[in-house]
Amino acid sequence: MAIAEEECDYLFKAVLVGDSAVGKSNLLSRIARGEFRLDSKPTIGVEFAYRDVRVGGSLVKAQIWDTAGQERFRAITSSYYRGALGALLVYDITRQSTFSNSVKWLKEMRELGTDDMVIMLIGNKIDRHHMRQVSEDEGRSLAEQEGLYFMETSALENRNVEEAFVQMVTRIH
Ligand code: GTP
Ligand code: MG
Repeated sequence: MAIAEEECDYLFKAVLVGDSAVGKSNLLSRIARGEFRLDSKPTIGVEFAYRDVRVGGSLVKAQIWDTAGQERFRAITSSYYRGALGALLVYDITRQSTFSNSVKWLKEMRELGTDDMVIMLIGNKIDRHHMRQVSEDEGRSLAEQEGLYFMETSALENRNVEEAFVQMVTRIH
């Protein structure tokens, strides 16, 4: 259900961040449209989508920004993070490098983002558990160490995606 801006109690911006192919765009299409694509293409530049959600007694409209994880498509400036109250920092549990890079992303977010941004660390692709390279404990301890919220998801099987989004909204709210 789409809610007109003037009917919303809150409107806020959230960003998706992380290496290429970790599943950011598919998490966004799940959150915004309930869709998943196996053949999705790398994002070029920046896209965004809206999602309305009811939290407690309030109507919240989230504007979620999605950018390219690929270095050559990235021209991230502070404008990407400007005004963002929430962030989903995504890695792929089947690729260790995407997990180690999340520390690099976090550094950028903290440099360019607002101080009190609610950050949710997300280990995506748990449907591919037989290929797992990053344990749930590793993810959780990084989150604890860095003061982030944490959840493992599957955009493919639609597991924990809604939960992660709602938790982020709830923490902001
Ligand atoms: P960039 O736009 O390049 O930064 O990549 P991205 O992070 O947006 O990744 P994208 O959503 O395009 O997904 C990359 C690939 O991973 C696609 O083939 C997706 O179908 C696949 N994928 C995304 N999420 C999942 C998931 O939860 N499970 C599995 N098995 N595949 C996934
Ligand atoms: Mg993308």
